[in-house]
Amino acid sequence: MTLVSKDILKAAEILSREELVAIPTETVYGLAGNIYSDTAIKKIFDLKKRPFFNPLIVHIHSVDQIMELATHFPEKAQLLAKAFWPGSLTLILKKQPTVPELITAGNDTVGIRIPQHELTLELLRNLPFPLAAPSANPFTYISPTTAQHVKSYFDGELEMILDGGDCENGIESTIVGFENGEPVVYRLGSISLEDITAVAGPVILKNNKEQAPNAPGMLEKHYAPRTKTFLVENIAAFIALHPDKKIGLLLHSMDHAHFKVSEIIYLSKIGDLKEAASELYNAMHQLDQLDLDVIVAHRLPDKGLGKSINDRLERATK
Ligand code: TXA
Ligand code: MG
Repeated sequence: MTLVSKDILKAAEILSREELVAIPTETVYGLAGNIYSDTAIKKIFDLKKRPFFNPLIVHIHSVDQIMELATHFPEKAQLLAKAFWPGSLTLILKKQPTVPELITAGNDTVGIRIPQHELTLELLRNLPFPLAAPSANPFTYISPTTAQHVKSYFDGELEMILDGGDCENGIESTIVGFENGEPVVYRLGSISLEDITAVAGPVILKNNKEQAPNAPGMLEKHYAPRTKTFLVENIAAFIALHPDKKIGLLLHSMDHAHFKVSEIIYLSKIGDLKEAASELYNAMHQLDQLDLDVIVAHRLPDKGLGKSINDRLERATK
């Protein structure tokens, strides 16, 4: 049985024995282990069934720990860190030789972030090592935004889930690296492209696997429910074309309340993008349990967090 608890000291004790603990963050739950323990890190890859070419993000509690992990902290990275840490930003920096290759999948860079969740920050302060933590879902499945989601994936296979309640932002961190000193966004996420640009100036967007083979969060199929999923602009047309199907709708506002389908979930009744992001994975988990023929999501406006949410929905349809 997996322990679900808020006991930070217990979590610290388990992690110190090279075991894993699922940890809450403001984005999604992570599956955490000691970055310096090959045993722990191998358990992360094993449990997630994640291929070894996909590097892990290192979680720290203070910007003072950066130079333990990275050789350089470029000026624009510092500006972004100042603006968004603790928070949903992952910075890709040149790694120190002491950062294990298993973490970085052999790359010469390391992904780093300070999460904004008091329980996890307190846990990190209680540990003499940083935590590697990918999202706590099996490879390609929907990321978990509640302790219950994690339990549904890994019950009995994981010693403990540190229960920090529902994740406030609900989609993963935005990943920013640097090429020739210029910022490059490798994954759209909880911090909008517009917010990154406001701090760092123009950025290059390389969020697909052709452009960024080393950021495999950009794998085409990802965040996917078991139920076949579609992302469409015209819901009425889809329904008309599939009269016999049991359809679950994922809508981002109440504008389309009149549809006759098996189930409708509103990501936000008032079309608020932040609320929609925070509800996205929970809604996908819920619809996936209803034995529907298809899940049909309505494409969001292509701006701010709408862009990040569309990116996740796009990958869920593959
Ligand atoms: O919000 C988040 O970032 C969550 C929470 C738990 O912090 N973590 C998360 O981890 O989403 P994961 O492993 O599911 O996704 C991490 C992404 C992967 O796409 C990986 O390829 C990329 O980060 N990544 C990690 N290190 C990298 C590196 N050195 N260079 C390029 N991409 C990297
Ligand atoms: Mg993930």
